[in-house]
Amino acid sequence: MTERTRLPQTGRGHDDILAEMRSFKDGDIDWQHGRAPLYVFGADAGTYEIGRAGFFEYFSENALGAGRAFPSVKRMETEVVDMALGLFNAPDGARGFMSTGGTESIILAVQACRDWNRAQRGAPRHRGNIVGAETLHPAFNKGAKLMDLDVRRAPVGPDLRMDVAAVEALIDDDTIMIVGSAPNFPYGMIDPIRELGAVAERHNLWLHVDACVGGYLAPFVRMIGRAIPDFDFGVPAVTSISADLHKFGFCPKPASTVFYRDAARAEHHMFDASVWPNGRFLTSTIVGTRPGGGVAGAWATLQYLGVDGYKRIATELMAFVDAYIAGIEATPGLHIHGAPDLSIVAYGSDSFDIFRVAELMQAKGWLPGLTQKPKGIHRMMSLLHAPVLEPYLDDMRAAVGVVRQAGPGESALKANY
Ligand SMILES: Cc1ncc(COP(=O)(O)O)c(C=O)c1O
Repeated sequence: MTERTRLPQTGRGHDDILAEMRSFKDGDIDWQHGRAPLYVFGADAGTYEIGRAGFFEYFSENALGAGRAFPSVKRMETEVVDMALGLFNAPDGARGFMSTGGTESIILAVQACRDWNRAQRGAPRHRGNIVGAETLHPAFNKGAKLMDLDVRRAPVGPDLRMDVAAVEALIDDDTIMIVGSAPNFPYGMIDPIRELGAVAERHNLWLHVDACVGGYLAPFVRMIGRAIPDFDFGVPAVTSISADLHKFGFCPKPASTVFYRDAARAEHHMFDASVWPNGRFLTSTIVGTRPGGGVAGAWATLQYLGVDGYKRIATELMAFVDAYIAGIEATPGLHIHGAPDLSIVAYGSDSFDIFRVAELMQAKGWLPGLTQKPKGIHRMMSLLHAPVLEPYLDDMRAAVGVVRQAGPGESALKANY
């Protein structure tokens, strides 16, 4: 018989409960000290505190009721979207919405695109399809699975960059959307959105830019004078954009945004049904109930940092990433995969199995992020990782030394997210 945890007969005290929960964390990765290369993001103590305070100020409010019960939540949501539309060079008439994460933003954009497409040209004869590079986030497959669409992934070039011609070759009459990432998750490179825009125009297709991971960092990295390829509504063919506040916007989870160039397309984003006894049910998210705290935490964080704050963080972060890259490149046998544009860096080796280095690093408490094609160690870095730059590089160099000395061999590690 399986042993199930039972609901306690008698409730327990706050202190007792919290003490036990804190003890649960003993087995967790020490993310506060930069040991997790994914899942968590950090800027500085002030940003953390205001996000947390904003979130808990609206701990009980339900953003589902923003329209009728909580105009304050509605106001913050509208203002967050407006501030972001400005950042992404959106034209007048563009629309945006908050959601609970990158995956939800992407699924919503895929659904809006499918329904807009059906309205424009009738239902496709076959399943519709979405075309992009193999580096596309699996959230597109999730959306496609839910909506009975296919995803076609074109191999990247030898430089790991999106091969625009290979993407174009996958387009057919049933294609409804092409996608570029800004940047992609595996190698941190911004796809050539202008070239992709030309493809979208040639085939009259909806172009979605998945800026989930870099959308709230790239504009500020550009403002501090670093070269960032065009990726937003400034490229006329860009139809929709997804961008996550809870990643490099440094806002508390859950908070993401999705934008459409015009109201006609945005209309297909909405769910509107008057099918039950309680009347009209109109929502802009896939989920129903969602935390008011996600909206409030994002609003508070944007107000706290402002343009200057985000530029300061971008400056610190990119200086640290430069030092990190320099440390990897100075280590014999290692090289960076591709040419990262922001703070995602993957590195590998032609002389030994890099997963053996990852194994040794793991034994020293560094959770390894891994890429399988090509094999690499993957790091998505925020300021959480700045204080441990030297310890990380020291452990990495030591691990490389051990692997080189041990001679040939292969690790049993498998890449998984
Ligand atoms: C490029 C990209 N798109 C989408 C997502 C999905 O975001 P979420 O985990 O918030 O659903 C991620 C997550 O890392 C990402 O890197």
